[in-house]
Amino acid sequence: METLLEWRKEFPILDRTVYMISHSLGAMPRGASRRLQEYADIWATRGIRAWEEGWWNMPVEVGGLVGKIIGAGPGEVVMHQNVSICQSIIASCFDWSGKRNKVVSESLNFPTNLYIYHALERLGARLVTVPSEDGISVPVEKMLAAIDEETQLVSISHVIFLSSFIQDVKAIVDRAHEVGAMVVADIYQSAGTVPLNVRELGVDFATGGSVKWLCGGPGAGYLYVRRDLWPQLEPMLTGWMADREPFAFEADAIRYADDAYRFLNGSPNIPGMYAARTGYEIISEIGVENIRKKSMAQTSLLIDVAEEAGFRVNAPRDPQKRGGTVAIDVPNGYEVTKELLRRDFLVDFRPRAGIRVAPHFYSKDEELDLTVREIRKILAAGAQNQPGRASA
Ligand SMILES: Cc1ncc(COP(=O)(O)O)c(C=O)c1O
Repeated sequence: METLLEWRKEFPILDRTVYMISHSLGAMPRGASRRLQEYADIWATRGIRAWEEGWWNMPVEVGGLVGKIIGAGPGEVVMHQNVSICQSIIASCFDWSGKRNKVVSESLNFPTNLYIYHALERLGARLVTVPSEDGISVPVEKMLAAIDEETQLVSISHVIFLSSFIQDVKAIVDRAHEVGAMVVADIYQSAGTVPLNVRELGVDFATGGSVKWLCGGPGAGYLYVRRDLWPQLEPMLTGWMADREPFAFEADAIRYADDAYRFLNGSPNIPGMYAARTGYEIISEIGVENIRKKSMAQTSLLIDVAEEAGFRVNAPRDPQKRGGTVAIDVPNGYEVTKELLRRDFLVDFRPRAGIRVAPHFYSKDEELDLTVREIRKILAAGAQNQPGRASA
């Protein structure tokens, strides 16, 4: 585990801050600056030729780097800007006007996913969200019970963003397939910290982005679609890049490409993909299994330290059921977070969860202690020191 700390020199911000926010914005690797410079140089020197010299293929080529991390086959992942776009593309593949119009999700899913399926109610979809009883976990038996013959799509987060609870994706996929429904897993909070293999899980779609554990920065979301489903899926959210012959510029209806380009639409975010590559390469080189070992040990340590300090922790106790983040619930959590940021302790605050703290492969054990100590200092200096629910 100590050898992982050698990566610290590749992440300049780690010298200046206690960086505990990789669930929200992974630290920038040095290589990302070089890659952005490369993008600018190519644009400046190759001009329009850049498209055929690499830019056009980047959504699939860079998607291949993500594919290796999440267990997808070659050519099965395409890059988009973000999860919201990817979910909307998936939703646009289905007819919501018939009897099979139900979308099953969890109330703790990331809101963007729920907003999209709520909006789809205008086209006839029915969104059913399974509530959490403790604000941390999602009861798998309730998820399974909600999936029935009227279900078209099950949209779940692999790891819940608020509590870090890991859902039993395989059980949900098995149930969905039994009744003829498909499953999209949002793997944003797992890819890069919790090992996963989309093909072994059997999900029909997966989506996520690069901002967090993959250390790839904004603007590089990814979409995996199971290869054998491609011929039957024709997204309504589409564009010329999805056409079989985009450079024929035909004015009639789209003829979808046979490969994963059928899930693209307009011009992709080229600089976002340049910026993101280095993060993917580093995560692949280290291996998510190795990251996970360290993460499980450090999140356990963090929970111990936080509880010793008398703070309530909103995260599963079983490390097997917990992703990479620990939410520490203190009074005036929002204000405490603002003060932590001012003091160069980088964390965030979420209502109904608390101060989210996330070590990554580059974090030192002592930084966990320092973070909890700093929270105590801030509380002692100002706010009332009463452990309890977050206020906002
Ligand atoms: C699970 C999950 N999904 C999606 C998002 C973000 O969605 P988008 O890529 O559309 O900004 C986040 C966090 O920002 C998240 O934690």
